[in-house]
Amino acid sequence: MSGAVTSLITGTGSYLPEKVMTNDDLAGVMETSDEWIRKRTGIAQRHIAAEGEKTSDLACHAAREAITAAGLDVEAIDAIVIATTTPDDTFPSTAASVQAKLGATNAFAFDVQAVCAGFVYALDVADALIKSQKAEKVLVIGAETFTRILDWEDRTTAVLFGDGAGAVVLEASNNAPDWGILSSCLFTDGRFRDLLYVDGGVSSTGDVGHVRMKGNEVFRHAVEKLSSSLDAALKSAGLKDDDIDWLVPHQANIRIIDSMQKKLGMPSEKVVRTVSQHANTSAASIPLALNAAVQDGRIQPGHIIAFEAIGGGLTWGAALARFGRP
Ligand code: ACO
Repeated sequence: MSGAVTSLITGTGSYLPEKVMTNDDLAGVMETSDEWIRKRTGIAQRHIAAEGEKTSDLACHAAREAITAAGLDVEAIDAIVIATTTPDDTFPSTAASVQAKLGATNAFAFDVQAVCAGFVYALDVADALIKSQKAEKVLVIGAETFTRILDWEDRTTAVLFGDGAGAVVLEASNNAPDWGILSSCLFTDGRFRDLLYVDGGVSSTGDVGHVRMKGNEVFRHAVEKLSSSLDAALKSAGLKDDDIDWLVPHQANIRIIDSMQKKLGMPSEKVVRTVSQHANTSAASIPLALNAAVQDGRIQPGHIIAFEAIGGGLTWGAALARFGRP
């Protein structure tokens, strides 16, 4: 290849498990209500992986759809990066399992762990692999069976999350300047660990633990950190708020998404919102929302998309991309 290499988003895919749990279903097993959940979060329902259905299974469904959308054979994939907080096993990586299940024999594969910011992190890593010419066709997946680390006795967290997967194919190009991933900016502040964490782990308790969150404190950090990271990504790409055609944010809470929309001064219809349908699926939420807006024709080749996410760590970040290929 010659010239500046860019990483084009050439295919998207997603998958939600068959089983749906509505807010009313939850209200049947814990002290909560459809009204409380909708008003505080915008969530109407979440999908729950079937018994025996693993994160890698969800990831494979989304990946196959993205590979088909890109018009590729699976053998063409030369790297797989999976963002997940709920891996099949402690090791090997979920990406290695997905590589085997897909038959992507030419791909090296590894996981990235940045909780709900995981997809933005994985996208950045995949973009760097392409721009450093270590790979040409990279599958980037966000996949979670997040409901498996919920404490079903804790209504403050149990109502917020769901399972799902989303994927994109990134392809190297040397004749598409100003297309593909335009910038990405990542941030971490580990001092905020106690706001959102799991009370278990391989090296601490020897079990997987359950999600613990100080929701209102996370909320306070979210809008400020999401907007500062998006500002940084815009500056790095030499773009302005007005240049964004679509905001595809992490789908955690409709109030956070709406606050970001207002802060950016964007028309509401330019923001992709899917949280009502699948709740917070952590690293899967951005590619799930992206694929929804690609499938229904809102997002078209050439559109500028802004991605942004915050999660446990705290980790957060934003990325900008011109979608598709010229
Ligand atoms: N059903 C009914 N009542 C509930 C529920 C529930 N599921 N959960 C809490 N309550 C009650 C509380 O007990 C409290 O009652 P009290 O006033 O009698 O003490 C009341 O509702 C208010 O509780 P708050 O925690 O103050 O409610 P808040 O308005 O902050 O909403 C929420 C909670 C939805 C978690 C909100 O703080 C939030 O969305 N935070 C952001 C969290 C988030 O998005 N995290 C994800 C980002 S990072 C990531 O994606 C991993």
